[in-house]
Amino acid sequence: MAYEPLFQPLSVNHKLDLPNRLVMAPMTTTAGELDGSFSEQEIAYLAQRARAGIGLIMTPACYCHKSGHSFERQVGCHTDDLLPSLSACAGAINAAGAASFLQIHHGGNAAKRHLSGGPPWAPSAVHNRRGTSELPHEMTDDEIETIVASFAAAAQRARRAGFTGIEIHGANTYLFQQFFSPFTNRRTDRWGVQTWENRTRFSAEVVRRVREAVGADYPIAYRLSPEEDHPDGYDTEDAIRLLDTIVPLGIDIVHVSSWEYGAGLRHAYPNGSHPTRMIREAMPPQIPVIGVGGITLPDQAMRVLEDGVELVAIGRELLLDADWATKVRAGELEHIRTAVTNRAEIDELDVPERMKDYLARFFISD
Ligand SMILES: Cc1cc2nc3c(=O)[nH]c(=O)nc-3n(C[C@H](O)[C@H](O)[C@H](O)COP(=O)(O)O)c2cc1C
Repeated sequence: MAYEPLFQPLSVNHKLDLPNRLVMAPMTTTAGELDGSFSEQEIAYLAQRARAGIGLIMTPACYCHKSGHSFERQVGCHTDDLLPSLSACAGAINAAGAASFLQIHHGGNAAKRHLSGGPPWAPSAVHNRRGTSELPHEMTDDEIETIVASFAAAAQRARRAGFTGIEIHGANTYLFQQFFSPFTNRRTDRWGVQTWENRTRFSAEVVRRVREAVGADYPIAYRLSPEEDHPDGYDTEDAIRLLDTIVPLGIDIVHVSSWEYGAGLRHAYPNGSHPTRMIREAMPPQIPVIGVGGITLPDQAMRVLEDGVELVAIGRELLLDADWATKVRAGELEHIRTAVTNRAEIDELDVPERMKDYLARFFISD
């Protein structure tokens, strides 16, 4: 079978055996319950992808502290009251034969007052990249400590709930990126960007404390954006340096976030390479890398493996076709659904009902 490499198992840093190379990318569903618990439909939707052959399911971004609540009906992992919900989610994915990773998130400047109860918390009082956020409140030392501790507590909760591992959401312009980027971090204290130690302190502290909280044997992934779409932002070399600093503190998998695998924001990369490949080449061999972005057909997924990147995450395509992996394995490529063109087709998708309005924006251009 031409696509057999996608179905080869992978051992992760002596901590985890994955059944294959396919990962469901973390995707916010806006389908949780109002108290932050997973809805039954959302759990069923994740378990369905696991049953249909995806080896590792990343949950939607889950806020670890109320101040980071950023999306309508976002799921939370900020309190022990949510343990039953977290256990139900982990249990359903595990029972379906996949590894389950809880993605732990804080939106920083992207948090919304009507959800979080106050102004967004961020390193500095700087609007988000687009200038569209409410002006954030500059976090105090105590508040930063509270958030670091909330990541550690959420990770421990994930372990107690039965998740196979966790992913720290360091990507997509949220809190970790806001600390790392000179554009959003204007602080002059030890959390600022003046020295490398200061600049990486927030990520390093969270990784250290999460590792302490979950123990040495528990798998931890770190997701990051390899570059930043702003003149004062950072580039792939900076991202690699960040990883060189934090991976030795306890990261087992690096997940490179992107909308189009193989493309980057710059026109030229060394030797025709691209950010995900550069990161793969820079990481120690025992740390697998996940590539993602725009993968709809298995030939595209194979290209990721051919680059030496061990794992392939699929996002939007798994919304369109829950049985993608089963169809690829059976060679039924002509039956894979790769597009929807109107609202009626979105209504037919096997995703939580509450997700459908939100999805229209990703799939239908006006
Ligand atoms: C509806 C939707 C929700 C998303 N939510 C998250 C999220 O919660 N956490 C995250 O890290 N990325 C999130 N992403 C980004 C995806 O994980 C992925 O990187 C992106 O969709 C590109 O992959 P794809 O082309 O296979 O969809 C989201 C993307 C979509 C389309």
